[in-house]
Amino acid sequence: MLIDTHAHIDMQNYLQNFDEVLSAAKLNSVEKIIIPGVEPSGYERIIELVEKYDELYGALGVHPGDSNTFNDETVSKLLKFGLNKKIVAIGEIGLDYYWDKSFVNLQKEVFTKQIEIAKELKKPVIIHDRDAHFDSFQILKSTGASEVGVVMHCFSGAVEFAKRCIDEGFYIALGGVVTFKNAKKIKEVAKYVPLDRLLLETDSPYLTPEPYRGKENRPAYVKYVAMEIANLKDVPFELVAQKTTENAVRVFNLDKVENG
Ligand code: NI
Repeated sequence: MLIDTHAHIDMQNYLQNFDEVLSAAKLNSVEKIIIPGVEPSGYERIIELVEKYDELYGALGVHPGDSNTFNDETVSKLLKFGLNKKIVAIGEIGLDYYWDKSFVNLQKEVFTKQIEIAKELKKPVIIHDRDAHFDSFQILKSTGASEVGVVMHCFSGAVEFAKRCIDEGFYIALGGVVTFKNAKKIKEVAKYVPLDRLLLETDSPYLTPEPYRGKENRPAYVKYVAMEIANLKDVPFELVAQKTTENAVRVFNLDKVENG
C-alpha cells in the first residue's frame, strides 16, 4: 500500500475524469491520497471530495504566494472547516522567496498565524518552503510546530538541512524530483533520510516522475517515487511502501479518522 500525501486533484483538469484518476491510483496500490488546499475559495470543493470518497483526505491552508489575501474571514474559514475529521492538516503553508521577495514580512506573519491555527486544531502542518529554508526553519522552531507534526513538502534542501529538520522531528516528503537524472542533491537526501521519517507525494499535476516526466502527473505515479527511493537506499520496494505508509498514518493521524 502507498499513500500520496500531496496531490492537487481538486483542480479542474482532474474533475472531468475523476473516477478514472482514482481507479488508476487504486490499481497501483495507492490507497490514500491527501489533497492540500491553497486558497479559501477551494475549501468547499475539497470538503465535498473528501466526504464523498473514503480514500481521500484534505488539508486547508493559504499558499505563501497568496499571503496578501489572508484576512479574518480566512481565519474563521480555517477554524470552521478545519474541524472536519477528514481534514487532516493545515497546508500548504510556508514561505516562497523564489517568485517574489517583496512581501517577506507578510508571508512570515501569515505563516505564523496558520501554524497557530494548526496548533489550536491539533493538526499537523504541510510546509511549502522555496528558497526560504532558514526562515521557514526558524519560524517552525520558534512556534513549536513539531508539537502537532511538521511535513516538509517537496523537500528541496541539501543533506545538512535535512539533518536539522530530522533533529527537530520533522518529516521529509519527496516527490518526482527524486527520479530526475540531474537531481543529485535530492537523491543524496533520499539516501540520507531514515525510512521512519520519509513520506511520498506526487504534487500532482506538477513534477511528474520519470518515466512520465513532461506529462501531467497523477497519484498513481507515486509508485515511481517509491521505486527510486528503494533503488537509492538499496532496500526492497515493499519496505519503502510499508514505512512511508506507517509514517503518513502516524503524522496525519489517519487511523483516527472515521470514514463513511
Ligand atoms: Ni502543492
